[in-house]
Amino acid sequence: MRAVVVRRFGGPEVLEFAEVPVPAPGPGQVRIRVAAAAVNPVDAATRSGALTGAGVIPAREVLGLGWDVAGEVDAAGTGARFRPGDTVIGLRDRIALPLGAYADYVVLDASAVALAPAGVPLVEAATLPLNALTAAQALDLVETTGTVLVTGAAGAVGGYAVALAHARGLQVVAVAGQADEALVRQFGADGFLPRGPALADRVRALVPGGADAVLDTALLGLDALDAVRGGGEFVAFAAGAAPIPLRGVRVRNVWIRADGERLAELAGILPPRVAGVLPLAEASTAHERLAGGGLRGRLVLTP
Ligand SMILES: NC(=O)c1ccc[n+]([C@@H]2O[C@H](COP(=O)([O-])OP(=O)(O)OC[C@H]3O[C@@H](n4cnc5c(N)ncnc54)[C@H](OP(=O)(O)O)[C@@H]3O)[C@@H](O)[C@H]2O)c1
Repeated sequence: MRAVVVRRFGGPEVLEFAEVPVPAPGPGQVRIRVAAAAVNPVDAATRSGALTGAGVIPAREVLGLGWDVAGEVDAAGTGARFRPGDTVIGLRDRIALPLGAYADYVVLDASAVALAPAGVPLVEAATLPLNALTAAQALDLVETTGTVLVTGAAGAVGGYAVALAHARGLQVVAVAGQADEALVRQFGADGFLPRGPALADRVRALVPGGADAVLDTALLGLDALDAVRGGGEFVAFAAGAAPIPLRGVRVRNVWIRADGERLAELAGILPPRVAGVLPLAEASTAHERLAGGGLRGRLVLTP
């Protein structure tokens, strides 16, 4: 089968379209014929070597890419709860495995898979798993019933975080580019602040004393921490992005984990967001576009 892999770290140009053996599902696993694989920042960090450098991904000669997948089950190991022909979405969070979703086929634990949402094209459904689960699991870390600040609110994780926080009855203040105000209000933001300097002052003008919690998907760190009240809550989204817990703010880091059952629920609530669709062979172009910033939603690769 064909798969996109890296044999050396670097920019988008190091992505290789290679011929590799079709993986076989083991017990409790399914093999999915990939219809669509979304391109996420974590794939760029894998390609550049940042994740291997940080000790998150083991060094290996050939690294596959791609966490988000939508497609059709074509083989199932013993005990897997899906059958060939099922149309599914899933998350490949076992990054120590050699191959990912940028491929003709991918093998996932059945527990990482959900039936695809009915009536949603697979190129759209592929944009759901990583970002929906991250937003939901980040919000799980937060106990407040008050005001939550979401930075990067127009982004893939941030947009879902706004929607889920709003659905939970929290007051949501969104930080994004000025041009994205209408978008993030549509997601459910009650308040809006354009990205820029003096964020903490502007948050505190809107929410006296500061926000109860922040989901810092834009990785602002200290600037976002300063916008939170003493004893509040901070959720960080990347290795090294968690600030020192000053003023008794409880700082935690979310680390996505696959959860097929939760994914099925979220897929019924959250809208897919597609920024564009490219053939799998053009993965390097997709990575260039991701690096350029300003995407709204995910680029999707189709084998
Ligand atoms: N820990 C985990 O389990 C986990 C899981 C998934 C993602 N992540 C991480 O979470 C982060 C967000 O992911 P994503 O997929 O949502 O990325 P994304 O779609 O690129 O969204 C990031 C958003 O932040 C905005 N932004 C950048 N700088 C900003 C600033 N100074 N102020 C306000 N907004 C700003 C970007 O705007 P522009 O596009 O206009 O620049 C973009 O809208 C990434 O670092 C990703 O690696 C972590």
